[in-house]
Amino acid sequence: MILKTTSSLAGKRLLLIIGGGIAAYKCLDLIRRVRERGMTVRCILTRGGAEFITPLSVSALSGEKVYSDLFSLTDEVEMGHIRLSREADLVLVAPATADMMAKMAAGIADNLATTALLATDKPVMIAPSMNSHMWNHAATQRNFNQLVQDGIRTIAPASGDLACGEVGPGRLAEVGDMVAALENFFDVTGPLVGKHILVTAGPTREAIDPVRYIANHSSGKQGYAIARALRNLGARVSLISGPTALEAPDGIERIHIDSARDMLSACKKALPADVAICVAAVADWRMKNVPDQKIKKQDGSLPALQLTENPDILEFLARKTDRRPDLVIGFAAETENIQDNARAKLARKGCDWIVANDVSTRDGGQSVMGGDHNRVSLITESAIEDWEQAPKDEVARRLARKIATHFT
Ligand code: PMT
Repeated sequence: MILKTTSSLAGKRLLLIIGGGIAAYKCLDLIRRVRERGMTVRCILTRGGAEFITPLSVSALSGEKVYSDLFSLTDEVEMGHIRLSREADLVLVAPATADMMAKMAAGIADNLATTALLATDKPVMIAPSMNSHMWNHAATQRNFNQLVQDGIRTIAPASGDLACGEVGPGRLAEVGDMVAALENFFDVTGPLVGKHILVTAGPTREAIDPVRYIANHSSGKQGYAIARALRNLGARVSLISGPTALEAPDGIERIHIDSARDMLSACKKALPADVAICVAAVADWRMKNVPDQKIKKQDGSLPALQLTENPDILEFLARKTDRRPDLVIGFAAETENIQDNARAKLARKGCDWIVANDVSTRDGGQSVMGGDHNRVSLITESAIEDWEQAPKDEVARRLARKIATHFT
């Protein structure tokens, strides 16, 4: 096995508590990936976890004995549960099931895993995973918030297809994101430490009347992925987000806004920043006057909706503030002449880089807006780089690395 001793995980000890969920299989890859980075891993495999993966595979990958029984005399003689819980630099629970979170929040210690969690004097991190209804249930959210208040660190679950066939939040974070969260926990020297980065994401909503609004299909996925990637490199990130269904990423300040004008004032408040990245799909227009009352249907005649232009946030950050970030990056959502239009936007709005993406749906595939993949070109005044189609997380990581390189 090749040890990458440059990782912040090198020489660190992890106690991994594997909960009883289908996503337990991801822990096998997690063990391999963190060990490659020089981390030692001891595992507690819960009874539920052992329904999905075997002690033999966990032991083979971790190179350590696997613990599962609180009342095993042999285990207690070799390594008592107190020692097990303390001979680690960090305790990670993955997947953290609704049941496990409820027990942790209530301080229940009825098996080796929950006893170790109560006995430990080390930081604890959880990576929740469950069906989206279970995740959104008031009891789970209450327990989760309690754990956050108790100082437990979290790796937010991802949204997407769940093993139960439903779609929504509750999927165990990808192994790469878990490794990044662990590295981030131990890393105090990421390349973007000390940098404050402002990211706008999601759509804006412009009221037509008290019940209707103008919006678009942006899901916020690309902007949130960029925020997470920057955080993973050590940046302090302010995420200014329009309405989305996404969970607030751990360790990132998220500011909710509705309209373009709200987004502009939130950006102004967040300055100064070293970098600004405008990923949000901001509505170009809003109603000139929003009536106090709902617009009524009038026998066949159409309402005359008078629009006015919204402020341009990217242009403000690039040209109109005396606190201009060192690097201002825009996105260009185009449906034709992608690179030419993007170049024109770069010049018109005065940003340093522009990331062009094709948001048309003409090929019948999944649209970039709302989808999980993106294919972008990174355009500067002097160069164009075409990046291959990739998951939005990968696009985000690549952009974050580019930004880190810009500052070295
Ligand atoms: O959210 P997802 O579903 O993941 O989709 C991602 C995305 C397609 C929304 C994203 O990749 C993207 O392209 N974002 C930019 C969307 C957009 O509004 O593009 P635009 O070409 O209309 O605007 C150009 C730039 O000006 C953008 O950086 C935009 O944030 C900014 N802008 C636009 C209008 C305005 N009033 N203020 C702005 O700051």
